[in-house]
Amino acid sequence: MGEILGFFSAKGGVGKTTMTANVGSALKHEFNTKVLLVDTHVFGADLSSHFGLLNPPVHVRDFLDGKLPANKVIYNDPRTGIDIIPGPLDPGKTKVNFSKLRQLLDTVRDDYEFILLDTPPWLGRETSGIISSVDEAIVIGTPTISGMLEARRTADMLRKRGTEIRGVLINFYRGFDYELHPEEIEDFLDDMDLMAIIPEDEKIRRALGYGVPAVIASPNSPGSKEIVALAAEVGGFEHFERPTGIVGRLLYAFGFR
Ligand SMILES: Nc1ncnc2c1ncn2[C@@H]1O[C@H](COP(=O)(O)OP(=O)(O)OP(=O)(O)O)[C@@H](O)[C@H]1O
Ligand SMILES: [Mg+2]
Repeated sequence: MGEILGFFSAKGGVGKTTMTANVGSALKHEFNTKVLLVDTHVFGADLSSHFGLLNPPVHVRDFLDGKLPANKVIYNDPRTGIDIIPGPLDPGKTKVNFSKLRQLLDTVRDDYEFILLDTPPWLGRETSGIISSVDEAIVIGTPTISGMLEARRTADMLRKRGTEIRGVLINFYRGFDYELHPEEIEDFLDDMDLMAIIPEDEKIRRALGYGVPAVIASPNSPGSKEIVALAAEVGGFEHFERPTGIVGRLLYAFGFR
């Protein structure tokens, strides 16, 4: 039965969608697991664009509005083989009934090992159906004081609603002196686990233009490597960094590393 994890931040633009697409791709391609990605950010859906699909033929609203059954809203990306329940290009004018989200996920849960939810950048009452659908939350923060305060606030709001926090990942790390350093970030997090620090990486931004997640398009870029390590932690897999030199690659290919 698939584990349902959501990437959350009450702040916009911190990388929720990018991490959903890339961690999911890494879980499938590096660790050979069955993965489903779900876009719950109905009023700003763009998860499927990370796979080159701008106007999805089916989407999560089709199920939530009662138009299509669960198995008909899954889109299989032909290039990566990943299953996605996209969000709509046109969000529609009526309210979205997220209370049916858990029903959707329960219907397909047995077919996957991991179900990852991309979520909206707010945690208002209308998102309670999203929050209550996840087994655990991964909170995304950025390496500044305001970014960490926002991450703490997000985690507190989720915990108040009874959601377990798997850990926090920091995105857009550049190592500048005005940023918080890893030890300072750890201090900020108190009892929460720091799962990963993902560097700002131009290859990640570029991958969105290609419509193929960076972990597949540019697996050796610094950001992709950290995301693969994060996916290993999410899935509980042992992970050896894939070597880049010819000798290392040969040894790796023949199973000596
Ligand atoms: N580590 C990174 N390095 C460089 N660019 C990144 C990184 N992470 C995300 N981005 C870029 O930042 C932008 C915002 O990322 P993304 O859309 O994933 O954020 P979001 O939290 O989902 O935003 P929203 O709250 O609006 O849904 C995208 O253009 C993405 O390519
Ligand atoms: Mg997003």
